[in-house]
Amino acid sequence: MTDLYAVMGNPIQHSKSPQIHSEFALQTKQDIIYSAMLVPVDGFESAVTNFFKGKGKGLNITVPFKEQAFKLATRLTERAKTAQAVNTLMLQEDGSILGDNTDGAGLVGDITLNNKEELTGKRILVVGAGGAVKGILQPFLEQQPESITLVNRTFEKAQLLAESFKAYGNISACGFEDLTLPFDIIINGTSASLNGELPPIPTAAVAKNTLAYDMMYAKEPTAFLKWAQQQGAKKVIDGMGMLVGQAAVSFELWRKQKPDSSRVLLGMRKKLQELA
Ligand code: ATR
Repeated sequence: MTDLYAVMGNPIQHSKSPQIHSEFALQTKQDIIYSAMLVPVDGFESAVTNFFKGKGKGLNITVPFKEQAFKLATRLTERAKTAQAVNTLMLQEDGSILGDNTDGAGLVGDITLNNKEELTGKRILVVGAGGAVKGILQPFLEQQPESITLVNRTFEKAQLLAESFKAYGNISACGFEDLTLPFDIIINGTSASLNGELPPIPTAAVAKNTLAYDMMYAKEPTAFLKWAQQQGAKKVIDGMGMLVGQAAVSFELWRKQKPDSSRVLLGMRKKLQELA
């Protein structure tokens, strides 16, 4: 019997998830249908309930419903609990709904597996303190970096976040002006790239062995990645691999089959270039 999966969000028309999961299903010979569902902003709970009452087995959840999904899930993974947001729901045999957050694992996998870069022992700067950053901090700290430094336009938010993740490892917050030494890795977790804007990171934070990663992606390199390249960063990476990576972790949770995400990522990059 064909199992149904979907991504729920609002807006949803530009979601790449149906394409990614359909390719995963082909690769691993899984009999599933994965679609994109536009859900009214006040209709999330009933949409999820109806989906799981039918043939629905799993959901991805995107903007603006990740916090609602966190509240709705009847069981939560540890990483979903710390993120306080859920991007993956799975119907369990007993009828309960498991909530997971695979964003951080997707990012860690893109950096360590696709790009063969270590997080362990590294000095990491994370820029931003919104929902996207909350989702990655615990999986990052699990990799035992030397330190994670958090900076944010609104300093207090970075301070609160650093405080609440202290139990998982060496994390602290500071102001942009306090960044006087280079980092091994800089992650841009702000939404600044959406508007072509650049967070005010001092140039001293970049050295020739710095890896710069933007959690966003676009046809062209983001303002942050262009800036990092101009400062002489050794490598710049956009967030497309994270997107495919989080999808792969969700797929594996649902189907107990590991898809080859690097092949799907290559295909997506090729398509994006053709459009450019
Ligand atoms: P998301 O869920 O995508 O993280 P969010 O919770 O609204 O979205 O968080 C957006 C993040 O990007 C915040 O850290 C925000 O900084 P503030 O906390 O000061 O609002 C940051 N951000 C957005 N635009 C920015 C810009 N132009 N420069 C620097 N930081 C920016």
